[in-house]
Amino acid sequence: MKNREPIGVFDSGVGGISVLRELVNVMPNEDYIYLGDSLHAPYGTKSLEEVRGLTVHNVEKLMDRGAKSIVVACNTATSAAVAVLRERYPKLPLVGIEPAIKPAVSQYAGGRIVVMATPMTLQQEKFQRLMGKYKMDARIICLPCPGLMEFIERGDLDGEDLRKYLTELLWGVIKEKVDAIVLGCTHYPFARGMISQVVGDKVAIFDGGNGTAREMKRRLSSAGKLSDAEGKGKVEFINSRNTAEELELCRYLLNRKI
Ligand code: DGL
Repeated sequence: MKNREPIGVFDSGVGGISVLRELVNVMPNEDYIYLGDSLHAPYGTKSLEEVRGLTVHNVEKLMDRGAKSIVVACNTATSAAVAVLRERYPKLPLVGIEPAIKPAVSQYAGGRIVVMATPMTLQQEKFQRLMGKYKMDARIICLPCPGLMEFIERGDLDGEDLRKYLTELLWGVIKEKVDAIVLGCTHYPFARGMISQVVGDKVAIFDGGNGTAREMKRRLSSAGKLSDAEGKGKVEFINSRNTAEELELCRYLLNRKI
């Protein structure tokens, strides 16, 4: 029996389950422990210090539970704290997520691309550097979405209030032709159907979940830490809000068709 310890995954809430789904697809035989910090969500409108403190706390909690590697399945926590984590845990296989601008730009070079993310992700230097790399190749428009993750935290993935929120939010940017939308927050893939209804199904939608899962697999493989288990692994959920409803929402989101 080798490397049977779980892969730890965390997010400020239930959004990172969109990344967990990709991890399970890419490495079905691994075990996972998913920590959602719903009690302290949202992170995207907090201060940098607060998000760093919460992120370090979450990683420590997952390591205490025996995680062999960590996926920061939160764009906000990655942009605010991944450098701090790498410094603290130099030996830990650690992968963060960032908005999937690269694949969007390579498919829609010269196009108009909207990046939806939390205010904090868009303000951070990490994101500004990423955008700087591609700004000559496409017209990139940043769209902060305060309030959007809360719909997903409530389990509202297709209600009328969400439609109204998205219509108002996107109205200004869709007056001109949009080629692609990048979902730069792990909660947003759960609203993908409604976003597509609002912007029209000709607009391509990108998210970074699959790329992040494949990167974790590469990292575990090169560290010799892939599990040798056969068959399907298990997924354990923990949540700082720890109610039966919260855990039920987690399982629902893991299995729901996006
Ligand atoms: N899911 C998180 C992200 O990817 C953030 C949501 C929040 O806590 O504001 O950015």
